[in-house]
Amino acid sequence: MLHLALQAIKTNKLFILDHHDTIMPYLRRINDNTTSKAYATRTILYLQNDDTLKPMAIELSLPHPDGDQLGAINKVYTPPPADHKEEGSLEEIIWQLAKAYVAVNDSGYHELISHFLHTHAVIEPFVIATNRQLSVVHPIFKLLHPHFRDTMNINALGRQVLINGGGLMEFTLYPAKYCMEFSSSLYKHWNFTEQALPQDLKKRGMAVPDPVSKHGLRLLIKDYPYAVDGLDIWSAIRNWVANYTSLYYKTDDAIRSDVELQTWWKELVEVGHADKRDEPWWPKMRNRDELIESCTTVIWIASALHAATNFGQYTYAGYMPNRPTISRRFMPEEGTLEFEEMRENPDRAFLRTITARLQTLLGISLIELLSTHSSDEFYLGQRDTAGWTAELEAAAAFERFGKALTEVEERIVERNGEENLRNRYGAVKIPYTLLFPTSEVGRTGKGIPNSITI
Ligand SMILES: [Fe+2]
Repeated sequence: MLHLALQAIKTNKLFILDHHDTIMPYLRRINDNTTSKAYATRTILYLQNDDTLKPMAIELSLPHPDGDQLGAINKVYTPPPADHKEEGSLEEIIWQLAKAYVAVNDSGYHELISHFLHTHAVIEPFVIATNRQLSVVHPIFKLLHPHFRDTMNINALGRQVLINGGGLMEFTLYPAKYCMEFSSSLYKHWNFTEQALPQDLKKRGMAVPDPVSKHGLRLLIKDYPYAVDGLDIWSAIRNWVANYTSLYYKTDDAIRSDVELQTWWKELVEVGHADKRDEPWWPKMRNRDELIESCTTVIWIASALHAATNFGQYTYAGYMPNRPTISRRFMPEEGTLEFEEMRENPDRAFLRTITARLQTLLGISLIELLSTHSSDEFYLGQRDTAGWTAELEAAAAFERFGKALTEVEERIVERNGEENLRNRYGAVKIPYTLLFPTSEVGRTGKGIPNSITI
């Protein structure tokens, strides 16, 4: 058995969904001071031959009642054996509950970190520094400006009703009144350069460098729709940024001697992201590569990354039993009344554990609203003003960007029709469209708006 596990690790077949260290420091307070009863979870997944992941084991951990110096208390659950798989069996309901506790962790991380912190929150200092330090005729202002449209407005609204004390996030997510403290604590680990998609994939162990592969990366799960479509979008953005900036900066020295540009970057790092100003990873903005990579990352965060985390929320999380956001009870222990209830009426036990009715109604309404495109959206490759530049070469480069994105759309449609790509065309046949650049109005599960507007 150990031999098989080691073999699986060596051949990159084992993956982990790790929600342990991030939430553990908050778990004692969450479980003692709120109505949530949650675990820190780790899930081991096995990569099968058809490129789909199968959960093999779930570890549920709690802080030690006698103090953190004694470590965590944890218990491991595994899927029911083949002969105990029928619906309603005790083994099946325990496994369903174990998966629900994982979904609770994942829902909280998704909304507070992947969506709010890593897009809405981190982009705001870029919006402010750009407006304060770059003239409206500066080429980098013209490049970035469409990607900041309405972001300050939605963030202001978010502070009033979503992330505020007593707001919707605290009401519908399990960290409850610790939501923002949890999000702030993970900002301490934020690294701007690791938000570039290729860096992000390598950091998360989803890709390894490979000079002969497309994009210089080899994906460890070949059929990973977010990464496959994302790398196409990333490359299109990067080419556009490189072509556009090369019209204005012919040498690295031109970057260093642009006073406006240098003041912009200095304010962004030292004032905008002041808590992180001493991080060694900040690009120094001394050459063209740093300008191209930084602007590509900003555009990626504001457009594709936000679209991928936001507009699929209703599609993927709109059915609460499949994706609960709160747990109200711990896993029942044998010999207790709760355990007997679970044996006799598993559905009731499950529903009494996951998100309650009012929180469900509000939570689903919220993600339905968030997943909806407004009628005045501008998508990647579009500008709200036709005459945004008087320079023919810049306009031509932008047109090429639009064409490249249309080609990406064609490739996405093609991939979604390939039956052997099980993560796009699995049992339920849900095509992956979150990184399909354009969309119609409404809740479409596709479309990459230029900026964070919801
Ligand atoms: Fe959003």
